[in-house]
Amino acid sequence: EGNLILAIETSCDETSAAVIAEGHKVLSNVIASQITTHQIFGGVVPEIASRKHMESITAVVDRALQEAQCTWSDITAIAVTKGPGLVGALLVGVAYAKGVAMAREIPLVGVHHIEGHIYANFLQKPQLEFPLLCLVVSGGHTHLIHLIDHGKMKIIGSTRDDAAGEAYDKIARALGLGYPGGPLIEKIAQEGDPARYDLPRAWLKDSYDFSFSGLKSAVLNMLNRAKLKGEEIDKASLAAAFQNSVVDVLVEKTCDAAKELQVPTVLLAGGVAANNYLRQRLQKALQGQGQELIVPPLELCTDNAAMIGCAGYYRLQKGERAGSDLNGQANLPL
Ligand code: KG4
Ligand code: ZN
Repeated sequence: EGNLILAIETSCDETSAAVIAEGHKVLSNVIASQITTHQIFGGVVPEIASRKHMESITAVVDRALQEAQCTWSDITAIAVTKGPGLVGALLVGVAYAKGVAMAREIPLVGVHHIEGHIYANFLQKPQLEFPLLCLVVSGGHTHLIHLIDHGKMKIIGSTRDDAAGEAYDKIARALGLGYPGGPLIEKIAQEGDPARYDLPRAWLKDSYDFSFSGLKSAVLNMLNRAKLKGEEIDKASLAAAFQNSVVDVLVEKTCDAAKELQVPTVLLAGGVAANNYLRQRLQKALQGQGQELIVPPLELCTDNAAMIGCAGYYRLQKGERAGSDLNGQANLPL
């Protein structure tokens, strides 16, 4: 009782603030999306993202406090994303967090963005027991991570080129669907026949690493060839074939790793974890080998501050504190 963390996330194109009670209860989770601003450019423009964060951070935090029905004096600590991400965007959150922590003389902690995604699973599920395996699939990262304890994790596989979400976004753009591409591909794929197009899968035998650039090139080549020949492409079926390719590899590698590590429970995290086709395929495959899949609620899969508050809670519990030298770091290792 009496533990109220104000969390802030500004690593990419969402300005978000949340109030978390006792590390797990989401009292508020305000997300101001910049998507409509970046849409006209077909992707996130870093300078615009940074300026938009500056314009909205104060109002977003005020609303988070208001929705949580608390005031500044109730807040006992601040958690903020310190990286990785767009450095100008990160700096807005970090500077704001440092300012309020200093002014109110309360503890401050910096959180790794990917750790935040993983901890979206611990919100409302504090009873999760280690060891765990987590498949992290976001716009910037694709990792298989062995979670040994709070703050103790080991990356056992990573993408060697594009992240899964990045591949979704690039293919959506090539298909003329728009940004962000993940949800748009998922939607159009439902009307397609994945068997209509034959696409490659990068298995990278004897490794838990991933590669999606070959698949991306295969789709782009197919689109170019069709254009040159004046042939019609069945976009829904191509999207379905692409999605099958991505999900086949994600599911097989996660199941292999789960079997090898003998973890009873597997977690899914990151923006692509909002994909229902992936959620269902992975859940079924893991169930088939006697393992359980835990997924965050849809709204906690993509970027949000609540997940940062939960990850920050465990770091604060261990006595971790950030000083006035806390900085945003574009490339922050996990
Ligand atoms: O975690 P996130 O919000 O931001 C990063 O940390 O990158 O992830 C954003 C990514 C984007 O690439 C977006 O296209 C993808 O997650 N995404 C999805 C879905 N929803 C978001 N990909 C596939 N299916 C979805 N339903
Ligand atoms: Zn993210």
